Amino acid sequence: MQENIPQSLDKARTYEKQGVVWIAWPEKMGELAVDEANYHDEFYEDAKDVHQLDAWRNIFYHNIIQNKLNEQPENSRILEVGAGSGTDAIKLKEKYKLTLTDISPKTLERTAKKLGHINIDYIAADGENLPFQDAYFDGLYMVATWHHFEDPKKALAEARRVLKPGGLLVIGVEPNSLYFGAIKNLRPILCKAVGTKTTDGSHADAEMSGFSYRDITKLFNVEWKDLEIKPMWLIAGWMHYFLEFIYRVFKMKKRIKLPLLIEKFIVGLDEILFKIPGFKHLGWHWVINTRNK
Ligand SMILES: C[S@@+](CC[C@H](N)C(=O)[O-])C[C@H]1O[C@@H](n2cnc3c(N)ncnc32)[C@H](O)[C@@H]1O
Repeated sequence: MQENIPQSLDKARTYEKQGVVWIAWPEKMGELAVDEANYHDEFYEDAKDVHQLDAWRNIFYHNIIQNKLNEQPENSRILEVGAGSGTDAIKLKEKYKLTLTDISPKTLERTAKKLGHINIDYIAADGENLPFQDAYFDGLYMVATWHHFEDPKKALAEARRVLKPGGLLVIGVEPNSLYFGAIKNLRPILCKAVGTKTTDGSHADAEMSGFSYRDITKLFNVEWKDLEIKPMWLIAGWMHYFLEFIYRVFKMKKRIKLPLLIEKFIVGLDEILFKIPGFKHLGWHWVINTRNK
């Protein structure tokens, strides 16, 4: 048996350590997962800038995700799948025993430089084949990650396996197929407009078409309980993607930032609109929370 491996890992296997990151990939990994590992290892993106994480339209919904996780008692064991640059983990690290995973070891290395590695385990792992013991974690979250899986159902089954009974699952910023299905079909035209190739960027992002409210309800119907599906961004979504389009078409030096007051007004208006029957289906993304039965 291997000494000093993080307690969470399945003890029947052996693992290699690179710097602060444990490599715990499965023996065989899907094509999309390999592509994602290579892509994110090679290309460093400033997530804050690319996704405008400092803008209120993001802060508001990340707060919802973090507040849900903060309902867990102190020192709970919390796992993040697809931790990327650690946007949410940085807010949770003082309170919880965090295990941060990502398919890309280099991404985790960069994140560890920012967040430190005291009390946090960094593990390069595939969300569809998690290397952890059964029923180990009290909570699991993934933000803007679930749609990167070849088989999102398998990733859910893995989340269920590693969560304790009653364990909390939070999945945030998941694309609505209403918009992203259409964007996938229009991709060749959109790429031409902004002067990129259809093969540029993350393949997982290019391949995905998102989830509808109905898809999500069906997927969580049987094995999960207390399901809440919250829509995110209506006008804010049109605004966000329109500004991104302008930035790319005109090859601007910086992304356009809106005054906080305008951001707050739009997000507030969206939240009112989502209360109108049927309008929840018009959100650009979803924030989901549920518990393992
Ligand atoms: C869009 S980023 C989101 C990062 C972070 N959660 C955030 O909100 O800033 C998606 C992340 O999922 C990771 N990822 C993609 N496929 C994965 C897989 N099969 N298993 C684990 N992580 C994966 C990518 O490397 C990337 O860091």
